[in-house]
Amino acid sequence: MQKKFKPGDKINVGVIGCGQIAQIMHLPYICENENFNLYSVCDLSRLVIDSVGELYHIPAGRRFTDMDAMLADEALDAVIICTKDHYEPGVKAAKAGKHMIIEKPLAYSLAQCDEIISLAKEKNLVLQVGYMKRYDPGFQYALEKIKTLKNVNLVRVHDYGGSFDFTTKIYDLYAGTDIPKEVIEAGNQATTAAKISEIGKEREAFLQSYDLICGLSSHDTILMRHAFGDPKVLFAHVSKPGFVTAVLEFENGVQCVFESGLVTSRRSWDESLWVYSDDCNMSVHFPWPYLKNAPTVVRINENEEGSMINYDKEVVSSFDESYRREWRHFYECITEGKTPFTCGEDARKDIKLASDIIKAVKL
Ligand SMILES: NC(=O)c1ccc[n+]([C@@H]2O[C@H](COP(=O)([O-])OP(=O)(O)OC[C@H]3O[C@@H](n4cnc5c(N)ncnc54)[C@H](O)[C@@H]3O)[C@@H](O)[C@H]2O)c1
Repeated sequence: MQKKFKPGDKINVGVIGCGQIAQIMHLPYICENENFNLYSVCDLSRLVIDSVGELYHIPAGRRFTDMDAMLADEALDAVIICTKDHYEPGVKAAKAGKHMIIEKPLAYSLAQCDEIISLAKEKNLVLQVGYMKRYDPGFQYALEKIKTLKNVNLVRVHDYGGSFDFTTKIYDLYAGTDIPKEVIEAGNQATTAAKISEIGKEREAFLQSYDLICGLSSHDTILMRHAFGDPKVLFAHVSKPGFVTAVLEFENGVQCVFESGLVTSRRSWDESLWVYSDDCNMSVHFPWPYLKNAPTVVRINENEEGSMINYDKEVVSSFDESYRREWRHFYECITEGKTPFTCGEDARKDIKLASDIIKAVKL
């Protein structure tokens, strides 16, 4: 019988996968939220869970290298899954009846997404996917403005990520250097098999691009979909491994140019959502996902009301951190029965779109 929660109740949370994003963002934000109790941690690395366990005062008996043992504890109410591949932990956590935040992407094939979604539904669990930018106040400001636009001419999603090498220089992180190579290799093979099962063996050469859209650009495809609806793919091209350009079309005929790539030779982050309309041109510029409280900036070019006098405006609506807001939303979903903005069914659409884009690339 699924435990029922009400506002004010404390939720015991476990973290599965205590690597970079868990250490930088989730662990601190769980702890600062008075509605959650950081209850247990799990990682393949004993070194990592002991270091993180000491830092966050987690008793030795609640530090696990085996997720089955962690999930067997009935006092554990919810988990966040921050492993690289979320399929196995997602299935196991759902079977164990735990509410979940699953980091993005939900999974690497539609079949895997469906399995996690249906298990969570069966048990009436909250399944929220970790698209924190959906909770970003800058994006939420832009979304309200986008909804008022009458004649949209073009949408553009530009996502060129940069190097992440600075994370270990600005944060003190523990790395799982004690995990046997064979264990890591077996995990990588299972993940690759799931990706190939989705895009097809004949498209194996585009694996890196599929990975990039699922991993990095799914952040942008969900925001694009929430602003403009679900598109179909008109054209897609992979110019070199890891880079994709596509043309999408929404139901109302408006088109979107989608550009995705990763340039790790530079510490630059170039991720933005653009909308060109008769009313105004607008762009939303996202900061590096690892910089806490860095604001999302919205740029607007429009006329002064009722005139042809034109101006540019740059809006910073808040310095609140998206990850922090993501956890607050999760709590509301568990205790007030709300559906997450980034629920499993919705996150599945990003995997479908990534798959459709890759399948549209000419062989
Ligand atoms: N929302 C965002 O902007 C954002 C940013 C970074 C990463 N992520 C996502 O978070 C996830 C983790 O990324 P990361 O950069 O922290 O990776 P990471 O490699 O630093 O951490 C993953 C951790 O999971 C552990 N792990 C792997 N398999 C496990 C298993 N079966 N049981 C227990 N522990 C296991 C590893 O030992 C490792 O410590 C990825 O899915 C990534 O897409 C999201």
